[in-house]
Amino acid sequence: MKRKIAAIDIGTTKVCTIMGTLDSTSGLRILGVGIAPSHGIEKALVANVTQAKESIRQSVRKAEMMAGYRLDSAYIGVTGKHINSNNNKGTIAITKTDQLVRGDDLKRVLDVALNVKAPADRKMLHVIPRAYTLDGHEVKNPVGMHGYELNVEAHCITAAVASIQNLTQCVRGIGIEIDDLILEPLASAEAVLSEEEKMAGVLIADIGGGTTDIAVLREGSIYHTSVLPVAGHQITRDIAAGLGLSFELAEEMKKKYSNLLPAGEEEDRVVGENGHSISYRDLCDIVRARVEEMMRLVVLELPRSDYSKLIPAGIVVTGGGANMPGIVELTQSITRLPVRIGIPPALNGVSNALLNDPAYATSVGLVLWKMKNENTQKWVTKPAGLRGLFASLFRMFK
Ligand SMILES: Nc1ncnc2c1ncn2[C@@H]1O[C@H](COP(=O)(O)OP(=O)(O)OP(=O)(O)O)[C@@H](O)[C@H]1O
Ligand SMILES: [Mg+2]
Repeated sequence: MKRKIAAIDIGTTKVCTIMGTLDSTSGLRILGVGIAPSHGIEKALVANVTQAKESIRQSVRKAEMMAGYRLDSAYIGVTGKHINSNNNKGTIAITKTDQLVRGDDLKRVLDVALNVKAPADRKMLHVIPRAYTLDGHEVKNPVGMHGYELNVEAHCITAAVASIQNLTQCVRGIGIEIDDLILEPLASAEAVLSEEEKMAGVLIADIGGGTTDIAVLREGSIYHTSVLPVAGHQITRDIAAGLGLSFELAEEMKKKYSNLLPAGEEEDRVVGENGHSISYRDLCDIVRARVEEMMRLVVLELPRSDYSKLIPAGIVVTGGGANMPGIVELTQSITRLPVRIGIPPALNGVSNALLNDPAYATSVGLVLWKMKNENTQKWVTKPAGLRGLFASLFRMFK
């Protein structure tokens, strides 16, 4: 059976919409990709609803034109410093006379783990079982086993209701229903990590424009997530302030010339499109200082300090920031861990070579994560109602 699947990655610098179909025999096929510059988003949060809506609309229209059909609903990525994560425990007794663990028991034990009082302004995004123990023994999947006491440790991720509402308002405002909200670091992890890395223990750092999203995976499942509100934009602001440039020129200079490990043989001065020249050394020094600080903050986010035991597979750097020359060597020298760049895998379907860049790890990952985690707890959405219907008709004729 074929069904439609779509995702929108609403980033601080770009919005990326991916539309496709999922077939039980031939798998995923991408039919439309739409990328538009993002306005009205700061540190991954909606700062201006009108501008954010327009950026999403542009990205969606481009994808729809390529795919040749309208987008009705999509998975949406969520990130920002309002995200919190905890590991909660739950215990239940297996009371059936045959002492056999059933699917219902897994749901019941997760409900117990979830039964912590969450404040009214927090929304549960994901509840991911990390480990089960049955009568004191760790088991991967206890269903079908016999026992008396079942424990679960679950990774629970919550978001601020107000931030989520601002985002969903923008998406619904252009007539698109939300299939589910997915934490962006989980999506990026799905796109760029290997099964071996996830089993051994690995940290993924997605350096975007507004946030650096962190996820730690161990024994095949999520261990820790956090979001740092420093990323590419802060580097650009440092360059702008340090060298007296506009944000746009600083961004251009950063992307064109900055290098975290300059060889020392380059030109003294580099020139922007408008003819303005700056010292190459100063540019590289400013970028290096900020990135060093950021990568130190990334490892400080780890819940334990025995890094080489916690994440023996090391660090995978992705997001647009992974395009900075020298990021691997610099991160290696700071953390003394193996480091590599994470590029999302090529997907079947229409030409989407553009997505073959670390900046699209989240976008590709949103589609892949949902394919693999079809049965995880769904974020409950309200129907779009008449307003959504009118907005979608309006988008069709605009
Ligand atoms: N070659 C490069 N050198 C330095 N920085 C780069 C380079 N290429 C891209 N970047 C930076 O990557 C950032 C954009 O990354 P990305 O597209 O992953 O962000 P985003 O998804 O829009 O934002 P976020 O996920 O934080 O909301 C920008 O700050 C940009 O300057
Ligand atoms: Mg991003």
